[in-house]
Amino acid sequence: MLEISGLTKHYGETKALDRADIAFRAGTVHTILGENGSGKSTLVKLLSGIVLPDAGQIRFEGRPVTARDPAGFQAAGFATAFQEVLIAPDRSVTDNILLGLDGLFTRRIPRGERRTRAAEVLARFARTPIDPDAQAGSLPLAAQQLVVLARAVAREPRILILDEITAALDYADRESVFDFMREQAAAGCLILFITHRMDEVMALSDDISVLRSGRVVATGPRGDATPAALLKKMAPQTARELTETQHA
Ligand SMILES: Nc1ncnc2c1ncn2[C@@H]1O[C@H](COP(=O)(O)OP(=O)(O)OP(=O)(O)O)[C@@H](O)[C@H]1O
Ligand SMILES: [Mg+2]
Repeated sequence: MLEISGLTKHYGETKALDRADIAFRAGTVHTILGENGSGKSTLVKLLSGIVLPDAGQIRFEGRPVTARDPAGFQAAGFATAFQEVLIAPDRSVTDNILLGLDGLFTRRIPRGERRTRAAEVLARFARTPIDPDAQAGSLPLAAQQLVVLARAVAREPRILILDEITAALDYADRESVFDFMREQAAAGCLILFITHRMDEVMALSDDISVLRSGRVVATGPRGDATPAALLKKMAPQTARELTETQHA
């Protein structure tokens, strides 16, 4: 469904992403696993039009993605919930969820339907009740995170990209977000799930790609990959130290 080849992004001397090749299959949760600074968010930003690659290609259903900005990627069917909670603090929850949506489709959402629409989107995965009329900036961080997720989901994307969105969530919301991700994948979407929590990787992944220092060091179906094997790919030094500690 989605394929990146030779995808590269440098920041000065830092190779944030270095000639990455990954094939993503429709109907899967594809986890991107990697340590801090390994290039996960750089990949996310490249797949959202936030940054442009220095080299390489993105193909969606066989065709090169020619979008060059976030609006272009959204129109192509991508939607992203970013790691940094980007919220318009003075606007309502409804406004935040539907932000930019009016411009995306030719038909504007009628005023009276906006609130209902926002509430419906939230109800698909949020267990914590959130008032659509509340000022978004006044909500706890976990609720803000759900609003950000709702903004991505409201676009009904084919490719939903979630960059470390579960960190702030409590248990009930996290579980229902996971159920929602599985449902979306079963309906044929591609879910790109970025995390460094091994329990989440094991619970959700159909496919896994491991990044280390900007390089893709493993990619493919989860198969019988174990946490130990993944840790070894992700951080060989830490894995070695752990083994030595266990044997000491
Ligand atoms: N705007 C930027 N300017 C300079 N360097 C950057 C910039 N964005 C990212 N980097 C660097 O690129 C590398 C990859 O960063 P990236 O944010 O993609 O990592 P990450 O895997 O998402 O990490 P984390 O787990 O902390 O979110 C890091 O060395 C980071 O410092
Ligand atoms: Mg990141």
